[in-house]
Amino acid sequence: MATDPTPKIVPSVLPANFARLGEDCRELEKAGVDRIQWDVMDGHFVPNLTFGPDVVSACREAVALPFEAHLMVSDPDSLVERFVAAGCSCVIIHAEACLHLHRSLTLIEAAGAQAGLAVNPATPLEAVRHVLDLTSLLLVMTVNPGFGGQGYIASMEPKIAEARQLLAEVDHPVELEVDGGAAAGADAFCAGSALFSYDGGLESGVTDLRRRAAEARR
Ligand code: DX5
Repeated sequence: MATDPTPKIVPSVLPANFARLGEDCRELEKAGVDRIQWDVMDGHFVPNLTFGPDVVSACREAVALPFEAHLMVSDPDSLVERFVAAGCSCVIIHAEACLHLHRSLTLIEAAGAQAGLAVNPATPLEAVRHVLDLTSLLLVMTVNPGFGGQGYIASMEPKIAEARQLLAEVDHPVELEVDGGAAAGADAFCAGSALFSYDGGLESGVTDLRRRAAEARR
């Protein structure tokens, strides 16, 4: 996933209207987002339960936007192929959920998708240093996974700056995505409630978040 100077806006559809997900995806596309993140939760790795691959697949034809699956699940290996088949071009797995993280990341590439790697707030970046060569995206969680609308964990700012430095040492582009908050140095911003509840509507929210993200990178 190439990194370019324009910050990417990646809405999570967790706050979307689950009774009209396809329409909400179309409204996000119209609002100018760069791709859509599906927060997949299994009720075990995190205390919430959300989308399966069939739901993602049902929305695939609604938009042309790339889909990324953020697997907040205890057994990501068992789900990678199904979410790729459902139309996700990137699958993000949690370092904390994988006993054999190197193998799990190779499974994503073998399935034909870009491999993304997520780290929870307490997980040191040292835990992923040796597998960044297998990733296209590093997702630094700035909230504890499981729910939308949580408070931004400001103590993640130094970690995001550290991640930026770490990725600069990798011999291919790895996009740095943060989950919430316009943290300094990120390439992509995943936001859910901030976008869906934006006073001026989705399009204004996307424009405003992109502007704030660009300012945060300066
Ligand atoms: C939390 C998810 C977040 C969430 C969006 O587990 O990974 O992406 O859906 O968070 P808010 O709504 O705070 O932007």
